[in-house]
Amino acid sequence: MSEWVLAYHGFDPAAEGLREALCTLANGYQGTRGAAPESAADDVHYPGTYIAGVYNRLSSDVAGRIVQNEDLVNVPNWLPTTFRIEGGDWFDLAGVDILDYRQTLDLRRGMLTRLIRFRDGAERVTRLAERRLVSMADPHVAALQTTLEPENWSGRVEVRCALDGRVTTDGVARYRSLNGDHLVPVADGHNGDVMWLQVETQQSRVRIAEAARVGVEGAARVDRGFDRADGWVGTLLTLDVAAGTPVTVQKVVAIYTSRDPGISESLEAARVGADRAGDFDALLNRHALAWRRMWGRSSITVDGSGDLALNVHLFHLLQVCSDHVADLDVGMPARGLHGEAYRGHVFWDELFAFPFLNTHFPLVARSLLMYRYRRLPAARWAAGEAGYAGAMFPWQSGSDGDEETQRVHLNPKSGRWLPDNSRLQRHVNVAIAYNVWQYYQATGDMQFLCHYGGELILDIARFLSSLASYNRVTDRYEITGVMGPDEYHDAYPDSDHPGVDNNSYTNVMTVWVMRRAFDVLRLLPEQRRLELRECLALGGAELERFADICHRMYVPFRDGMVEAFQGYGDLAELDWDGLRARHGDIRRLDRVLESEGDSPNRYQASKQAGGLAMLSYLLSDQEITDILHDLGYDCDDECIERTIAYNLARTSHGSTLSAAVYTWVLARRDPERAWGFFRDALASDLADMQGGTTREGIHLGAMAATVDLVRRGYTGMRLGEDAMRLDPRLPDGLDTMSMEFRYRGHTGTLTFHRDRLTLDLHQSELTPMTIVVGGRTESVRPGQTTELPLPPDRC
Ligand code: BGC
Repeated sequence: MSEWVLAYHGFDPAAEGLREALCTLANGYQGTRGAAPESAADDVHYPGTYIAGVYNRLSSDVAGRIVQNEDLVNVPNWLPTTFRIEGGDWFDLAGVDILDYRQTLDLRRGMLTRLIRFRDGAERVTRLAERRLVSMADPHVAALQTTLEPENWSGRVEVRCALDGRVTTDGVARYRSLNGDHLVPVADGHNGDVMWLQVETQQSRVRIAEAARVGVEGAARVDRGFDRADGWVGTLLTLDVAAGTPVTVQKVVAIYTSRDPGISESLEAARVGADRAGDFDALLNRHALAWRRMWGRSSITVDGSGDLALNVHLFHLLQVCSDHVADLDVGMPARGLHGEAYRGHVFWDELFAFPFLNTHFPLVARSLLMYRYRRLPAARWAAGEAGYAGAMFPWQSGSDGDEETQRVHLNPKSGRWLPDNSRLQRHVNVAIAYNVWQYYQATGDMQFLCHYGGELILDIARFLSSLASYNRVTDRYEITGVMGPDEYHDAYPDSDHPGVDNNSYTNVMTVWVMRRAFDVLRLLPEQRRLELRECLALGGAELERFADICHRMYVPFRDGMVEAFQGYGDLAELDWDGLRARHGDIRRLDRVLESEGDSPNRYQASKQAGGLAMLSYLLSDQEITDILHDLGYDCDDECIERTIAYNLARTSHGSTLSAAVYTWVLARRDPERAWGFFRDALASDLADMQGGTTREGIHLGAMAATVDLVRRGYTGMRLGEDAMRLDPRLPDGLDTMSMEFRYRGHTGTLTFHRDRLTLDLHQSELTPMTIVVGGRTESVRPGQTTELPLPPDRC
C-alpha cells in the first residue's frame, strides 16, 4: 500500500459495501460504486451509479402516512459483465475457490483494478483481471476492461455484458420502506457492436441514456448475440479460448441525460458517444492525463511525500467536485456520488469544501454558488410561506431548491419513526452567505458579486433579520425556535414546540452576515448598488434594522461562558460512563437514548461542534470578540477557552464533521489533542468510524475538511481583499510542506520550511500580489520567487 494506492487483499463479504463506497469512481458528472461487475444488489453488493443532479420524487406510505421523498436516482447499472465456462454456472465468487483476490484503487490515475485467480468445480484454474475508469477527460464516458486467462484448460466461454435499467434506489436499509422505483424504460436496441438503453425518471421526467460498445481481443472465434427485456439489454459473446492465452472484453460506455447541454437528444448522444470514444487504452491515457493535471493543481507534499488517507480524501473530493461541475447545475451532495445516504441531498457540508475549492477550483466553487442562486425564487417562496422575508434556503436541497428534509425519520435502533425537525437548521443560510463571501475574498470575482453573490448575501441577511425578533423588555434581538448545528437539541424537554432559542452560533453568525451585507453594499459599483437595492426594495429602514442587529443581538452567556443556546445550562448532565457501559459506542446518542425511551433534549450533550467551536472554525478569535464587543458582551481569550472545553466535554461526535472542527479549534490550543481528532477525521470513512454508515456513501464534508486542515490549518492562510496572510506552524516532526494555490487570478507554489517560506508566483500579466507573514508585508511580482524568513517561535 503506497500513499497512492488503496489496496485490498482477499474477498470479504462483510466489508464489501464499505469497499464499494471507498472505491467509487466519479468525475463530477457521474459516479459508480466500486461494485463487482458480476454482482447485482443483494446483502453483500450494491452496484449504484448516480448522475449529479438527477433526482426524482416519489410518494411512499410510511407508518400510515403518505410522505414524499426526493432521491438522487440510482440510474441503470452499466457494469454488468459476467461469464460462464462450458455452459456451467455464471461466475459467482461464492461458487468458486478463490486462490488469489486483489482489488486496488490507483488514486493517481483514477483506476480501479480487480485481479482474481480461482478454481471452479471442474478443477479449471482461471485468472480474471479487470480495469475500470470513469473518465476524468470526457465526463460522459466510462469503461470496463475484462481479461480472462485460462491456466489449465481450453474451451468455450460465454461472456454476457448488459445495461441494467431494472435497478431501484434501495441502497440504504433504513429507507427500504420508501418507494425506490424511479425508472421507467423508454427504449433499447443494438446495432453492430453497440447496444443501448434509455429510461426516464417517473416524476422529474429526466431521460437517461446509456450506450455500450463491446469489443473482444484474443479469442479464436467470437459469436455475438443480443438479448433484451423491459429496461435491460445484453450482449452475449461466445468465445473459444485457449490455455495460457488471455482474451479481453472491452465495454466502453457513454451516458447522457436530457439535462445535458450541447446535445440534441440523450439516446442519440449516448449512441454517438459510445461509437466515437476510443478503446480502453486510449481512454485511460486521456483520463490519466486529466488526473495528472488535477493532482498537479491540488496535491500537498509533506516532507517530500504524501499521506494515503489524505490522498483518498482529496481524491474523492476531486471526483465529486471536478472541473466538470463548473458546467453543471448541481450542488455538493453530502455523501458524494458514492451512495444513497441522505438521498443525495445537499446540506451545509459544502462549507467545509469551499476553502479548498476557492483556491484550487474557483470555477467549481462558483458553479456550486450558482446552484444556490438559481434556487433563490424557491428560497424566497419558502421564506414567505413561513412568514419571513428574504430568502430561506432549505436544510436539505435537491433538484429545485424546495425543502427536502424528511418529516419523519427511522431510528434503526428502536425501529420507531420519529418526527424530524432538522429543517429548523436555518444556519444553512449563514453557510451560503459565508461561502459567497469567502469565494469573493479568494478570487476577487467582482462580476459574480455584482450579479449573483451580492444578491444572495443581501437576501439571506434580509431573511435572518426577519427571523430575529426584537424583545422590548431586554432591548435585544432574539432568534427563537431553531436548531443549531448540534442536531441533538430539536426542542426543550417536554415542550410541544420544536426548536430552541438563541443558538449562539446562529445568532453570532447572523450578525456576521449583517456586517457582510454592508460590505457588499460598500463594494458594489454605485449603479449596481442602486439597481440591487431597487430590485430588492431594500430601503433605509431595513438597513437600519440590519445595523441595529449588529449592536443588539442577544447571545446567551452563563457562568462567564457563551452558552450553546439559551437554557442549555439548565439541562441535566448526562451519565456518559453509564451509557457507554450499557451501549459501547454512543456516538449516535440520539438513537441510543431514544431506544431507552429517553431523549438528548434533556441533557447537556451535543452531537457535534456547534456554538463557539463552530464560530472558531469560521472566524478568528479577533473577529468573534469584535462582534461580541459590538454587542456589548465581554468575551476574552479565557472565556473562549473555557467555553470550548466545556462543550467539548459534552460532545459525542455523532457527525464526522465534529472531529474536523475540533482539530481546527484545538490546533493551536492543544496540538496533541488536535492531532488525535485529526487522526479520527482521517479514519472516519477508511475505518468506517460511524458504525457502518460509509457503505451508504462517503462523508464528503469531513473529507474536504481534513484537506483544508492541512492546507490552511498548518499555514494559517487567510485570504483578504488586500493580501494573502500566512501564519504557518508546522507540526512537530515535519520539516517541509509544499502546495499549489490560486488567489485572485494568481497561481503559484508555497513551500513552508521550519525557518522560512518560499513563494513561487507563476508568470502572468497581473499586478503584484501582496503577502503578509509574521507582520511583514511583501509585494511579489508574477514570475518572481521570494523567500521570507519565519520568526523562530512559529515552529
Ligand atoms: C450532520 C450535519 C450534516 C449532515 C450531512 C449530519 O449527521 O449533523 O451537520 O450536514 O449529516 O452530512
